[in-house]
Amino acid sequence: MNYDLLMQRAINISAPYKYLVKPNPMVGALIVKDDKVLAEGAHEKFGEAHAEVNCFNSLRDKIDEDHVMICTLEPCNHYGKTPPCTEKIIESGIKKIIIGSLDPNPKVAGTGIKRLKDAGLEVSYGVLEKEVRELNKFFFFKHENGRPFITIKIASSADWKSHSKDGSTTWITSEASRKDVQVVRAEHDAILTGGNTIRTDKPRMNARVEFPLIQPQKILLSEQKKWDLSLDFFQDSQVNIIGETNLVKVVEELSKRDLNSLLVEAGPKLVNSFLDEGLCDEMIVYQSPDKLGENGVSWFQNEAIIDKYGLSLKSSYTIDRDKKTVFEK
Ligand SMILES: NC(=O)c1ccc[n+]([C@@H]2O[C@H](COP(=O)([O-])OP(=O)(O)OC[C@H]3O[C@@H](n4cnc5c(N)ncnc54)[C@H](OP(=O)(O)O)[C@@H]3O)[C@@H](O)[C@H]2O)c1
Repeated sequence: MNYDLLMQRAINISAPYKYLVKPNPMVGALIVKDDKVLAEGAHEKFGEAHAEVNCFNSLRDKIDEDHVMICTLEPCNHYGKTPPCTEKIIESGIKKIIIGSLDPNPKVAGTGIKRLKDAGLEVSYGVLEKEVRELNKFFFFKHENGRPFITIKIASSADWKSHSKDGSTTWITSEASRKDVQVVRAEHDAILTGGNTIRTDKPRMNARVEFPLIQPQKILLSEQKKWDLSLDFFQDSQVNIIGETNLVKVVEELSKRDLNSLLVEAGPKLVNSFLDEGLCDEMIVYQSPDKLGENGVSWFQNEAIIDKYGLSLKSSYTIDRDKKTVFEK
């Protein structure tokens, strides 16, 4: 059997649920016999059945010793929102399982495989591991680094200004760039901003996309105690106000929560504080061809600052009149 091809199929069926399972990983599973796929299933919604369970539910055959299960991620071996998949697999009588990647979640991390081996199953893993990791980049990052992946997103004028001093600027970048930002928001588990941005811009900061999704949570860093909760920012999803200014402590606190990724969307003060603390794994810059000139507030002293923080170019292309550039660590 061509396990690479089968694993690719399992990966492919998991991918459409990206925005509905987060912060869980996307997982796909197949049951095959004699090169034929007899059943498939994916984890489709946060808190609901895992891929392995959906896969068994779609199987019509009775399992014999020639059936093989293909699963993109190590099956869970603990009681979470659903019972452990390892028990379901063992009970099914299946004798062989091929796994894409070990689960980095300390609650699983190798224990799923051990349980299956102890029950007498033949277990292999590491098939298309790189692809599984890449698809679930934020999930692997969180569990391997103990904190969420941090993306900083900024909109900039051609002369690296964030906004105008007198508050006269409305939008710096094009409508097409702002539409693109909605998808970036949808990909993250939480959006974080600072008090000044909420006081000045009164943004909504939700993900306005045309597909179903779990809206990112919102985190407001501010020492201001009282807020007008009828502001747009406080609608759509859970908002947490954190009165701590030490960002290392803030990130430590956020690491305890079920968040794999954080999108920082703030003005120059908070963005530079994150950069100064080295708390940036990716930076996305939407840059307009227009200058703001003397009336603009600078993002950085100069563009070379991006190299100073150890960020290097990942991709760059145009969106309408603007340029979207992504830098990564
Ligand atoms: N072009 C863009 O992409 C973009 C994006 C967002 C905002 N903006 C613009 O940015 C302007 C606001 O920028 P800003 O630089 O003044 O404010 P900011 O970076 O959005 O927020 C700064 C505020 O964050 C809070 N904060 C908590 N811990 C902090 C820390 N360690 N370092 C810095 N701030 C911390 C404080 O809130 P409290 O004072 O409430 O305690 C502080 O006043 C707005 O006018 C908005 O238009 C531009």
